[in-house]
Amino acid sequence: MENSINIKLKVWRQAGPKAKGRFETYELSNISTDSSFLEMLDILNEQLINKGEEPVAFDHDCREGICGMCSLYINGRPHGPDDDVTTCQLHMRKFKDGQTITIEPWRSAGFPVIKDLIVDRTAFDQIIAAGGYVSVNTGGIPDANAIPIPKPDADEAMDAASCIGCGACVAACKNGSAMLFVSAKVSQMALLPQGRVEGARRAKNMVAKMDELGFGNCTNTGACEVECPKGISLANIARLNREFLKAKAQD
Ligand code: SF4
Ligand code: FES
Repeated sequence: MENSINIKLKVWRQAGPKAKGRFETYELSNISTDSSFLEMLDILNEQLINKGEEPVAFDHDCREGICGMCSLYINGRPHGPDDDVTTCQLHMRKFKDGQTITIEPWRSAGFPVIKDLIVDRTAFDQIIAAGGYVSVNTGGIPDANAIPIPKPDADEAMDAASCIGCGACVAACKNGSAMLFVSAKVSQMALLPQGRVEGARRAKNMVAKMDELGFGNCTNTGACEVECPKGISLANIARLNREFLKAKAQD
């Protein structure tokens, strides 16, 4: 049976990157607990448009936990109160009737606000461009069994590759560190023979770009792992540190 709730929203509104932001309060009635969080924001925006007001700008694309676009800080947690889900996978059944829900953009020097709840996450693209690839021409697709890979390595590489680049790890970190993201991207290749060759150089270049773009240092608080919607493990950070030290030793 469908239930509905009435909620109060405190939403961060900011006209542009240099504008001063503020919280605006909105009240929504009869929101189905079966609706997703983003559907609830769609309803808010329909109501704002009908009143001739500016809709709330927020990012989304796939709405199924794949693209990493839906970067919202909800009641003090990246991607909200549910574990291991992105904002687009969050449902209104996780909230109570009469509850106030505070919605903010990611807060990080590396992710400046563009408008309202949308932040600029191109810093992650720049980090990838600094080394998150295999630089040799790998030719056509080889047979799956051409290079034997131990199953545990393949599993670990796949786990690391499930990082969707959402940035929740940065938003959760008191230092604004991007180490969990970088470590996942380094690990997904360092664990496989094709990516192993450039592992150390990749780690060095990606960490240098991360530092240059204003992300903070990792002090092992572990908040990133707790809030990551894809369960990326801190073990990847340990691997990144090993790769990085190896690269420094080769200098
Ligand atoms: S490590 Fe997790 S939280 Fe960080 S970008 Fe990847 S999926 Fe998002
Ligand atoms: S909109 Fe694609 S992960 Fe949420």
